[in-house]
Amino acid sequence: MRNGRSRSCSKAEVINTRRNTYFTFTLVFLFLFFSDFSGMVESSVGVNWGTLSTHRIAPHLVVDLLKVNKIQKVKLFDTDPTSLRALMGSGIQVMVGIPNELLAALASSVVNSDLWIKRSVSMFVGKGKVDIRYIAVGNEPFLKSYQTRFQSLVVPAMLNLQQSLSKVNLGSYIKLVVPCNADAYESTLPSQGTFRPDLTEIMTQLVSFLNSNGSPFVVNIYPFLSLYQSSDFPQDYAFFDGSSHPVVDGGNIYYNAFDGNYDTLVAALNKIGYNQIPIVVGEVGWPTDGAFPANLTAAMNFNQGLLKHVLSNKGTPLRPGIPPMDVYLFALFDEMQKSILPGNFERHWGIFSFDGQAKYDLNLGLGNGKLKNARDVNYMPSRWCVAHPAKDISHAVNHIKMACDAADCTTLLNGGSCNSIGDKGNVSYAFNSYYQLNKQSSESCDFDGLGMITFLDPSVDDCRFLVGIGDDSSSSSSSKSILAHFWFVIMCAYIVFRIL
Ligand SMILES: *[C@@H]1O[C@H](CO)[C@@H](O)[C@H](O)[C@H]1NC(C)=O
Ligand SMILES: *[C@@H]1O[C@H](CO)[C@@H](O)[C@H](O)[C@H]1NC(C)=O
Repeated sequence: MRNGRSRSCSKAEVINTRRNTYFTFTLVFLFLFFSDFSGMVESSVGVNWGTLSTHRIAPHLVVDLLKVNKIQKVKLFDTDPTSLRALMGSGIQVMVGIPNELLAALASSVVNSDLWIKRSVSMFVGKGKVDIRYIAVGNEPFLKSYQTRFQSLVVPAMLNLQQSLSKVNLGSYIKLVVPCNADAYESTLPSQGTFRPDLTEIMTQLVSFLNSNGSPFVVNIYPFLSLYQSSDFPQDYAFFDGSSHPVVDGGNIYYNAFDGNYDTLVAALNKIGYNQIPIVVGEVGWPTDGAFPANLTAAMNFNQGLLKHVLSNKGTPLRPGIPPMDVYLFALFDEMQKSILPGNFERHWGIFSFDGQAKYDLNLGLGNGKLKNARDVNYMPSRWCVAHPAKDISHAVNHIKMACDAADCTTLLNGGSCNSIGDKGNVSYAFNSYYQLNKQSSESCDFDGLGMITFLDPSVDDCRFLVGIGDDSSSSSSSKSILAHFWFVIMCAYIVFRIL
């Protein structure tokens, strides 16, 4: 019985095995076939590395952080030489940025653009150096709130820069792009998207230039801001888990604001005759503090939903599947020196806090699991400045104001993670922010005798009292490597000497 069964089993097995082999073969073939192709068309994820922060980890540690998280693309807002030097030899693809304030000079003469390309770009490019792929010409230069300040400078600056790039043989390798805010286009339904009337002419010139140079259109998309700015915006439409208020647009139904926004741009581009131009999302993300919809759970849900959506290569209703979507998350770090004009959340966009610690679990889809923290961060000693427990702090108002004008206290405000730590907590938080900003100098914890240094971490629940970062150790490590080189040369000389 047992035998018979096993025999008949084995007969079936033979057939099955043959089928399985066949099946596996087909699978392997299909896999190889498609992976070969998807190498060309797969969507990708990068990050924005902004540096408007009082406490910054050393650039070489940032590059190490990118590498341990397998992040292959990074977007900078300038051409800071210390960041670029740290990126040398990393193999990471880089978008550098030109601040809006430089556009006038670059638009005015090729001499200026030649010089800028030479000093800020070509000297960093080459074998084993920095893989600069894009130059962002201005940052959201068409933003409504800038009015016409930069509008007319963008295309002339690009024409000059393109000439300068060609002179150093980088004209086709490095692409010029212009990151635009989503307020460059408008519409109630995605399919009706058009560029803002005051931008139609400039956009037509710009997109024609991008198209002839093989550059993508770069746009920043922020469902968070839509939710934050309008009280009747359906909350679930900002995320990627489906919406009870989908937008019906002819035969297309939109379940998330990201796709709706993206396709409004697609329609606007179609309208001026560029159906094919690739789109790169230069900034997209969700803040974690400083406003009610800005919290850890929401940021994690948004970013994870976004990444899943992007890496599925499904595209949007108006651009299904191919071409792939390239997105740069905003942002790598919290930046405590950013202007809070747009809102208190502005300093809390990081997927990592200022010191490179992951704020929440996020799988970037780069084959590396959850986010990994920065290594070897050089913190200042573990000590904090707090309000003296035995002193009356009812007259500390001016001290708080002074401290919070200089340092960051945005988490204390409405919707912030430290908003409910009480009066004394408030004062302590302000004192500590100021103390850490001043590199823990003892004078900066005086506050007319109201301050006190402590070695016990005053953090409460989600409200973190920070410890600042010590001085950049990269200079000492580079002098260490010079020393190492020195000894190496001496040793070689010695060996050569002995052989002779
Ligand atoms: C976090 O933000 C989401 C999205 O706005 C909101 O629904 C949720 O209530 C917030 N959670 C907390 C704990 O505030
Ligand atoms: C702490 O300060 C914040 C910001 O000024 C304020 O909103 C909050 O009510 C304060 N908390 C207490 C208990 O005073």
